[in-house]
Amino acid sequence: MKITFNRPGLTGRELDYVTEAIRSGHASGDGGFTFKCQKLIEEALGVPKVLLTTSCTDALEMTALLLHLQPGDEVIVPSFAFVSTVNAYVLRGARPVFIDVRPDTLNLDETKLERLITPRTRAIVVLHYAGVACEMDPILEIGARHKAPVIEDNAHGLFARYRGRPLGALGCLATQSFHETKNFHCGEGGALVINDPGYIDRAEIIREKGTNRSRFFRGQVDKYTWVDVGSSYLPSDILAAFLYAQLECRDQIQAHRRRVWERYRDGLADWAAQNDVRLPVVPPHCEQAYHMFYLLLPSLATRQALIAHLKSHNVQAVFHYLPLHLSDMGLKLGGHPGACPVTEDVSDRLLRLPFHNELTDAVQDEVIGRVRAFHV
Ligand SMILES: Cc1ncc(COP(=O)(O)O)c(C=O)c1O
Repeated sequence: MKITFNRPGLTGRELDYVTEAIRSGHASGDGGFTFKCQKLIEEALGVPKVLLTTSCTDALEMTALLLHLQPGDEVIVPSFAFVSTVNAYVLRGARPVFIDVRPDTLNLDETKLERLITPRTRAIVVLHYAGVACEMDPILEIGARHKAPVIEDNAHGLFARYRGRPLGALGCLATQSFHETKNFHCGEGGALVINDPGYIDRAEIIREKGTNRSRFFRGQVDKYTWVDVGSSYLPSDILAAFLYAQLECRDQIQAHRRRVWERYRDGLADWAAQNDVRLPVVPPHCEQAYHMFYLLLPSLATRQALIAHLKSHNVQAVFHYLPLHLSDMGLKLGGHPGACPVTEDVSDRLLRLPFHNELTDAVQDEVIGRVRAFHV
C-alpha cells in the first residue's frame, strides 16, 4: 500500500452539511454556511471581516486589485514561495522584487527588507512558511515607515500565533487556503482576511463581479449594478458547508496535527543529528500551525537519494518551492543565480514527509522507520 504525501480527509459532518446547503435552496455563494465560516474565522482571529473565496490564489488576486496595483509598481515578495504569491501582482503589471529567506525558519529575511524598498514599493508580501510566523514586528515597522502595506500569505498558518497575536490579523490584508493539502479543506477554497476596514466595501464588490450585489442583499441599495472592476471570487455554499464541518473540528484537527509533528520530531531527532539533517526551527515566540514536517538534507544529491529510497518503499515524499527568481518567469523578470542564496540552497535540500489529518501512528511509524534506515 502506498503511503501518500497527502490525503484529503473527512472529519465530522461534512456530508450532512453539504446536503443541508443544497436542501436549503441556496447552493450558490454567500449562503448560510459561507457566513458561518466567515464569522468563525473573524472571531478566532479578531478581525473585522473575512470573505470566503474560491482559492487562496483568488484572495491574493483580490489584494492586488484592492491596492490598485499598476504597471511600474514594485511588490517585495519572497523567492521561496508559491507561484500564486507572486502571480497575483504580476497579473496587474507590478514588478516582483524577490527577497531571500532566513536560514532558520525559511521565512522572509527581515534584515534584508529595508534595502529593497524604493519609492515605487507598493506592498510587502510575507509568507508564514509551514505555519511558523515571520518576524512581524520589524516587518510591520518597516512597512509603516515606508507606507508600504504588508500582506500576509497565510495559506499555511491559520490559527498560528506570533507573540500571542493570530497570523492573518497582522497585515492590512491576509489570505488563507482551503486546498485539499491544507489543515482545513473543501477541495479548493480560500479566504480574504481584511484587517483594515477601509478595504471591506470594495472587497465585497470585487468578489461579486464588480457589482454592489452584497449591499443589495443587505437592503442598502434598491438595485445592484456594475460599480468597479471585479470577478467571480465567491465559492458556492456547498463548499462552505464542507469547510464549516472541518472548521468546527479545528481543535481536534490541530491536536492531531500537533501529535503527528511531534512524533516526527521525536522519532527523527537522533537520526537527524547523526546524519547532518536539520529539522524545522520554531522560535519560542511562535505558536505554529503544524502544517508540515520537513527535513533539510545536507545536499541536493542526498535529498534526491532519500526521496528515491522512500519511493522504493512506497512512501511519497516531496520537495517544495523551486526558487521563483530562477523559474522561467523569474528569469524573464530579471532573476539571476546568486540573487537569493539561502532560497537557492534550501530549495535543493528540503524534503516534506507525509502529513495529513488521517495519518495514523502505525503508518507514521512506517515512514519514520524507512527514513531512519537511510544513511546520508
Ligand atoms: C503559500 C501558498 N500560497 C498560496 C497557495 C495557493 O493556494 P490555493 O491552491 O488555495 O490557490 C499555496 C498553495 O499551496 C501556498 O502554499
